[in-house]
Amino acid sequence: MKIKVKLKNVTKFYKNGDEKIIVLNNISLDIFEGDFIVLMGPSGAGKTTLLFIISALEKPSLGSVFWDDVPVDTLTDSEIQRYKLKKIGLVFQNYYLIPSMTALENVCLPILLLNEYSESEAMLRAKELLSIVGIEKNRFNDLVSRFSGGQMQRVAIARALANNPDIIVADEPTGNLDTKNSKIIIELLNKINRDLNKTIIIATHDPKIAAFSDKVIFIQDGKITLNYI
Ligand SMILES: Nc1ncnc2c1ncn2[C@@H]1O[C@H](COP(=O)(O)OP(=O)(O)OP(=O)(O)O)[C@@H](O)[C@H]1O
Ligand SMILES: [Mg+2]
Repeated sequence: MKIKVKLKNVTKFYKNGDEKIIVLNNISLDIFEGDFIVLMGPSGAGKTTLLFIISALEKPSLGSVFWDDVPVDTLTDSEIQRYKLKKIGLVFQNYYLIPSMTALENVCLPILLLNEYSESEAMLRAKELLSIVGIEKNRFNDLVSRFSGGQMQRVAIARALANNPDIIVADEPTGNLDTKNSKIIIELLNKINRDLNKTIIIATHDPKIAAFSDKVIFIQDGKITLNYI
């Protein structure tokens, strides 16, 4: 099976005066194409840090990250930016949508940033994606600031899919949602994994989400343990 992301001896520490806080301690991990991985662990254990390193939002202090066998530290900044736009879709707890834009505009934005498609092509794709995530047509042109949390997260997932990435990285995507909407979002991510063959990695505190996954990574004291369920 193809390795999509590889972490090799990744260590991440922060300096606080003379003190060195080691968040990730010599972690190696292979993420395979089509994986649906749930990342769990106590608050402050390093889940977000690990997701940010996978997505090149943060650099490891030591060790290497590989995307499709390419060491990220050999890429130029513009290559990394392009890779991030095309290959990795990010989903956050707080959605990070642009509130003054409509659902359609939010999803179009990363497509237009890529500068490979016309505005009408981007609109067409964005509409398709909004339908896939279950947003009603009559809401496409509404400002996202008028959407519920569950709806905003659906739009954020559509945006994450905008440039047809191989990987979706989600940091506590259900953290602000009630049980019903959490279930909808997780089922949606699961469906995207199965039907669109996206590699998905989700950090969560919710043990119910782990039930959707066959691979659970626990992170604690800087180390990970991989559990097959
Ligand atoms: N920029 C930073 N400077 C210093 N310390 C940091 C920085 N970013 C994260 N940390 C520390 O790294 C550790 C891991 O943080 P991280 O956000 O990855 O945890 P987490 O597992 O995502 O927690 P939560 O479940 O609360 O989201 C914490 O102790 C945090 O204080
Ligand atoms: Mg976190």
